[in-house]
Amino acid sequence: METVVSGIRSTGNLHLGNYYGAIQNFVKMQHEYNCYFFIADLHSLTTHPTPADLHGNVKQVLVEYLAAGIDPETATIYIQSDVPEVAELYLYLNMNAYLGELERATSFKDKVRASPDNVNAGLLTYPVLMAADIIIHKATKVPVGKDQEQHLEMARTFANRFNRLYNKEYFPEPFAFNFSDNLVKIPGLDGKGKMGKSEGEGNAVYLSDSPEVIRKKVMRAVSDSGPTTEYSEKPVEIQNLFDIIKVVSSADTYEHFDNLYNTCQIRYGDLKKQLAEDIIIATAPIREKINDIANDTLYLRQVARHGAIKARESASKTIREVREIIGFKSF
Ligand code: TYM
Repeated sequence: METVVSGIRSTGNLHLGNYYGAIQNFVKMQHEYNCYFFIADLHSLTTHPTPADLHGNVKQVLVEYLAAGIDPETATIYIQSDVPEVAELYLYLNMNAYLGELERATSFKDKVRASPDNVNAGLLTYPVLMAADIIIHKATKVPVGKDQEQHLEMARTFANRFNRLYNKEYFPEPFAFNFSDNLVKIPGLDGKGKMGKSEGEGNAVYLSDSPEVIRKKVMRAVSDSGPTTEYSEKPVEIQNLFDIIKVVSSADTYEHFDNLYNTCQIRYGDLKKQLAEDIIIATAPIREKINDIANDTLYLRQVARHGAIKARESASKTIREVREIIGFKSF
């Protein structure tokens, strides 16, 4: 059975982008593949969270994984820092990752632009740690959103380079995966880029948002005064709203508003009202479970411990073999 690995950074509550880009696939894949889903708390250290924030965010992602339907009896759910073998493989892969290629990564360039005062080595080698996460379990499929495509390409590069250096076909190549063939990019509500945690207030709808908050955010989404010529191309902020409708609402709803747009009869207030209600319905089953799971400390502890044991079994086997391949041998 093919192995699947994916993770989400512990930097706060999960949003619709995380859900439709990644988690929805996790939930489906767990029944078909050997799955490892983790909480990337080491990755979150690049922004120096306080110990309390770090712990709270790890818990939040764990709770939301479970609320979204990942079954810890079927898939392995674990916290990245519980598996120190990942950090060891990261070290080995770093010896084989070059400054030029790391500096060219789009995510690195974006981070440098956004936070020029915090360009640390962890940020630069972020894709190397990600490669270690994936290949430590010899995964071949990685369910992620569109924004992670380049990181997967880099993971393949590092895996292949290791194989070539030691002249051994050890690590398989991992590929980004989505059930619908195309990787997903959910836009934000601000009329600009993708939905994200650090894109500013009101850009993201969180799985834990109450219906009132969802309505408020969606009604404030950026739109314009409407088309004046029939069948005109949609401006970015309008296309973004339609892109969200496409994943959250029914095909009929999409078609209905698309027709209204094309015939210049659209009223964005109506579109947003419908979109808000559809988001509320789509997220209800998850939202309803979040509080109960968050209050069950015993259950969370069991899940995390069980997951760490299973993940370490797989990771330590790889590390034993990797050490041997590299030439670390006992006398
Ligand atoms: P992160 O935490 O930024 O996002 C987690 C997952 O959600 C997807 N995603 C989106 N998909 C569609 N539209 C959006 N607007 C959107 N925003 C986020 C991301 O593509 C991702 O799949 N580096 C990773 C975490 C990670 C990882 C890994 C993933 C660490 N190691 C190993 C896979 C395998 C990250 O920062 O994702």
